[in-house]
This record gives sequence, C-alpha cells and structure tokens, in this order.
Amino acid sequence: MSVLSAREGYRLWAPTYADETAISHLEAGLADALTPPLSGLRLLDAGCGTGRRLSSAGVASGVGVDISPEMLEAGRARRPPGVWLMQGDVRTLPLPDQAFDVVWCRLVIGHLPDCRPAYAELARVADIGATVVITDFHPEAYAAGHRRTFRDRHGVREVEHYVHALPDQLAAARATGLAPVETREAAIGPEVLSFYEKAGKQALYAEHEGLPVVLALAFRREG
Ligand SMILES: C[S@@+](CC[C@H](N)C(=O)[O-])C[C@H]1O[C@@H](n2cnc3c(N)ncnc32)[C@H](O)[C@@H]1O
Repeated sequence: MSVLSAREGYRLWAPTYADETAISHLEAGLADALTPPLSGLRLLDAGCGTGRRLSSAGVASGVGVDISPEMLEAGRARRPPGVWLMQGDVRTLPLPDQAFDVVWCRLVIGHLPDCRPAYAELARVADIGATVVITDFHPEAYAAGHRRTFRDRHGVREVEHYVHALPDQLAAARATGLAPVETREAAIGPEVLSFYEKAGKQALYAEHEGLPVVLALAFRREG
C-alpha cells in the first residue's frame, strides 16, 4: 500500500472523516479530561480538521485552523455560530501571540516529520497560564504495526505518520515554555468494543485489547 502525504490523505478522507472511530472516540475522552471548563475562554483547535470538536457553547471565542481546505469545507455546514475556521499550518499559525486560553492540537503532530516547530507555534499563541492539550497516535500502536488508515472506493488508504516518542515531545515542549501538567494514554478496551462489533471484527478486538492507541499531553504555558 502506498503511503499518502497528509495533504493528499485528508483531501481524500474529508468526505467521510466525520464518522467516529475507536481511536477518535478514545481521543475525545482524553482531550475532554485534560481540558478545563471552556466557559468564557478563548479556544484554538490547531489542526481542527472539519472542526467537529469545536463548539461555541460558552466559549468567549473558538478558532479552528487546518491545512486542508477539503477538511474545512466538509465541516462548513455544521459549523456552530461564532466559530471561525481558517486554512493554515500549525507550524506557522496565522494568529497573534498569546491569543488563547486553551490550545488543542489533536491527532495532528504525528503527521509532522519534526514536532518542534508545531510546539513552538502552539506555545507562541497560548497566553501565559493557558492550557495546551496535544494528542497523538500512540507510539506503541505504531510499533505494534498499526497505521493511520481510512477506507475509500479504492480500499484501505494509509496516511503518513511520524513517531514522536514521549521524551522528544516533552523536550520540545520545555524548550518553548510549556510545562508538563499531565500525561495520559488510552488503550483498546470495552469502551470501544461496539466499534469492532459494528464492523463485524470481534476477533480483531481480542487481538487489539489492551494496546495503547492514543497519547495525550497537557501543558501549562509559563510566563
Ligand atoms: C486526524 S485529523 C484530526 C482532526 C481534528 N483534530 C480531530 O480530532 O477531529 C488530522 C488533521 O491534521 C491536519 N494537518 C496535518 N498536517 C497539518 C499541518 N501542518 N497544519 C495544519 N493542519 C494539519 C489534517 O489536514 C487533518 O485535518
């Protein structure tokens, strides 16, 4: 199977990306747990995809940035009022310094060959004291042979992924003034059994059970 660049992969994945998967479900649980109550806060979702995680409920402002115009377009119809979506690269965010209280970068960093420029930008746009939440495809899942895949009319497609070990991510964060607050991971377990059952893949569930598939890191932006 040839590996698609992230740009090409998400161009093709965009029409069906809204469908939740076991991984996206587990990721959402981790990100929710690490995110403070959003009421009255300025929220940035860097690498927002379709913007499906952004809600205007209670936030002072909500901004989503993604490199893929197709992903942004796919989410346009359900975009909540007061949420702004724009095209841009997480390594060169088209946003001012210290403009957000909460910064998410969810399942994006693994598509970048070097995570350091993204960490630097996330830290730059986070205000002093802001929470930065970064989630990633778990290195152990990659080591076990799992890949970032989706299905289209040509069959199973793979999107490029670069492993960033936890110590490398923590070092990248520290170098930009992000202090680690908490690290969590989520593994395949009963919570996502229904995804396997719906796909008729119970045997695969037994094989995957216990494997960590999502890594989530929370940081506080230091002064
Ligand atoms: C797995 S999706 C996650 C989308 C969203 N964060 C979510 O959880 O639903 C990865 C997203 O990262 C975006 N992406 C990849 N490289 C990027 C970059 N350098 N800058 C901005 N977005 C990027 C892709 O276009 C895609 O929408």
